[in-house]
Amino acid sequence: MEKADTLIIGARLIDGTGAPAVERDVAVRDGRIVAIEAPGGLSGWSADEVFDAQGKVLAPGFIDVHTHDDTHVIRSPQMMPKITQGVTTVIVGNCGISASPVTLKGDPPDPMNLLGDAAAFRYPTFAAYVDAVNAARPSVNVGALIGHTALRNNQMDRLDRAASADEVAAMRAQLEEALDNGALGLSSGLAYGSAFNAPPEEVQALAEPLAKAGALYTTHMRTEFDAILDAMDEAYRVGRHARVPVVISHLKCAGPSNWGRSTEVLKSLETTRDGQPVGCDCYPYNRSSSTLDLKQVTGDIDITITWSTPHPEMAGKLIREVADEWKVSQQEAAQRLQPAGAVYHNMSEDDVRRILSHPATMVGSDGLPNDPLPHPRLWGAFPRVLGHYARDTALIPLEEAVRKMTSLSARRFSITERGEVKVGFHADLVVFDPERVRDAATFAKPEQAADGIDAVWVNGVLTYREQAVTGARAGRFVARGAASKLDAQGAF
Ligand code: ZN
Ligand code: CU
Repeated sequence: MEKADTLIIGARLIDGTGAPAVERDVAVRDGRIVAIEAPGGLSGWSADEVFDAQGKVLAPGFIDVHTHDDTHVIRSPQMMPKITQGVTTVIVGNCGISASPVTLKGDPPDPMNLLGDAAAFRYPTFAAYVDAVNAARPSVNVGALIGHTALRNNQMDRLDRAASADEVAAMRAQLEEALDNGALGLSSGLAYGSAFNAPPEEVQALAEPLAKAGALYTTHMRTEFDAILDAMDEAYRVGRHARVPVVISHLKCAGPSNWGRSTEVLKSLETTRDGQPVGCDCYPYNRSSSTLDLKQVTGDIDITITWSTPHPEMAGKLIREVADEWKVSQQEAAQRLQPAGAVYHNMSEDDVRRILSHPATMVGSDGLPNDPLPHPRLWGAFPRVLGHYARDTALIPLEEAVRKMTSLSARRFSITERGEVKVGFHADLVVFDPERVRDAATFAKPEQAADGIDAVWVNGVLTYREQAVTGARAGRFVARGAASKLDAQGAF
C-alpha cells in the first residue's frame, strides 16, 4: 500500500497550463505532488489526511508576480492578505523598489517609503535579505527582484540626475551579488521622480549582467499616460540591448485622454513578441494606487487619499473634498498632504478587460500592505479574476484565468517546479469553490478575506482552511531556477 501525507479526492483539476478541467485525485508526500490519477485511482493509498474536494476546483497555488511585500513577509509572516486568496508565492522588489540590497543615508526616498520607514531597511546585501526571509518562515514562498531605484539610492548623492559610469558600475556589482544569490531579475520605476532622470542608457548598462544569469527585466514604465507607446519602446530596447526577457508591470492606459488605447498598446506588445520575449502583468481594477504624485493632481480625475503623514484624518477623502475643506487648490492640498498615498480613478473598464484577457498578461496584485487604507487589490486581486472576470462576466475561461496566475508566471520568472499541478512539482495547491469564489475587499472596506477559497497548501503543508489559517507556515525563499525553454505558444 502506497502512503501519502495528503490525498485530495474528487476535485476538478485545473492544472495551470490552460488545459481543460478534468476529474482527478492527487497525492502529496514530503512537499511534492507524487501521484495524479483518475477518480478512484488512488484507492490503494493511505494518507494522514484525506481532503474531500468534491465539486471544487483544485489548482496550483497562485503566484503573485507583482507585489510590494518585501518587508511584509518578514514583519507579518502569516501573510493574511495573500494566503486568503490562494496565493502561495509572492514576487517582491517590483517598480524599482526593493528592501535589499539597501543602505540608507536618511529616510527612504519616494516611493521606497511604500515598503516602510527607515527602520524597515536592514538588508545591506541580498544574502542578508534571503536569510531574513528564511528566518521569518513566511506562510508563502518569496522570490525577489532588485530595484533600480534602490541601487541608485545606495550609490548616488541625489536622485534627480543620471548615474555616472562609476555609479553604474557600483550598482551593477550589487546587482550581481543579488543574482549570484538567486534574485529573479531587475525592476525599474522610471515614472517616479527618484528614477525619472535616469536615461535609457543607464538602465541598459545596468541590465547587462542579467542575461548570463538567466534573469529578466521588469518595468514600471516612464509613463502610462499619452506617451505610453514610447515608454514601451524604451522597455523593449532594454530587453534587446541586454538580451533579456521584459515584463511590463501593471500595464494600463492611464488618464482620460488615453482611454480606449489598449488595442494599440496590445498591438505594440504583439508585434514585439514576434521578435523578442516581452509580456506584462496587470491587476483587475480600473483604479491605480501609489504614493501621491503631484504630477497626477490635474483635476481631471478623482483621487482618494489613503494615508498622509501630516494629515492622517484625511484618509478616505477625495482630494477635491480636502481642497474644498481647506479652501485651497487641489495642487496646494496635495502639497500639504505630503508624504501621502492615493488611489487614482484613472482607467477605463474596457481597457482593463482588454489587457487582462490578453494571453500575454499575468495577474499581479500590486498590493500595498503598509497602507492603512489599501487599494482592495491587496486582498482581492486573484479571487476577483476568478469570480468577477472569469465567472460572472465571462471575460475568459476559468482555465485561462488560472494559467495567468500560475504556469505563465512561473515560466516567465524562472521559478521551477511550481505553477502546475504535475507529478514531481512542489505541492503548492489551492482548492476553491468555482460557484462561490469572489473578492470581498472593497475600496471602503479593503481588508477582507475572499470567499470561496477552501484550502491552501504551501510546500505540501495545509496553511489555510475554512476561512482560517492553520498556524503552519511552510513558505521559503525561492531562488531563480534555470531559465525555461519557452514553448511555441509563447510561454512568454
Ligand atoms: Zn508600479
Ligand atoms: Cu508596483
